Amino acid sequence: MKKLISLSFTLVVLATAPEAFAKINSADIRAARSLFQSSGCTSCHDATGSAAGPSLKAIAKRYKGKPVITELAQRIREGSQGRWGDLSHPAIDYLTPTDASMLAEWILNGAPL
Ligand code: HEC
Repeated sequence: MKKLISLSFTLVVLATAPEAFAKINSADIRAARSLFQSSGCTSCHDATGSAAGPSLKAIAKRYKGKPVITELAQRIREGSQGRWGDLSHPAIDYLTPTDASMLAEWILNGAPL
């Protein structure tokens, strides 16, 4: 049983680890940046300063090296509350799961321009 648990743990680590180190390519960088600008994200998030939502830099720093693309993409679409402060991130469900993942990946990579 112990062996089985440790094997499943290893598999989970192997299955999620590459995501943490995924580097975004330049076409995705351009697509993500323009999606970020056209989806209203900029009214609450900016690169480094304090707006209604956490800065992109602060988000990238908090989750550095962690395999959280899927989780963040889900919160971008479904909303998030209580993780940063008193304000909520609204549900933005007109984004497709693929687009939300691309935005999450871009943010986690430091939101390159
Ligand atoms: C109305 C303001 C508002 C808009 C618009 C908005 N956000 Fe947010 N966002 C927030 C706030 C506030 C938080 C912090 C929520 C919390 O404390 O859990 C947040 C949190 C986040 C987080 C971190 C979630 C976490 O789990 O730590 C990400 C990533 C994010 N937003 C991305 C986006 C993207 C991408 C868009 C555009 C598609 C967007 N936001 C649009 C206000 C906004």
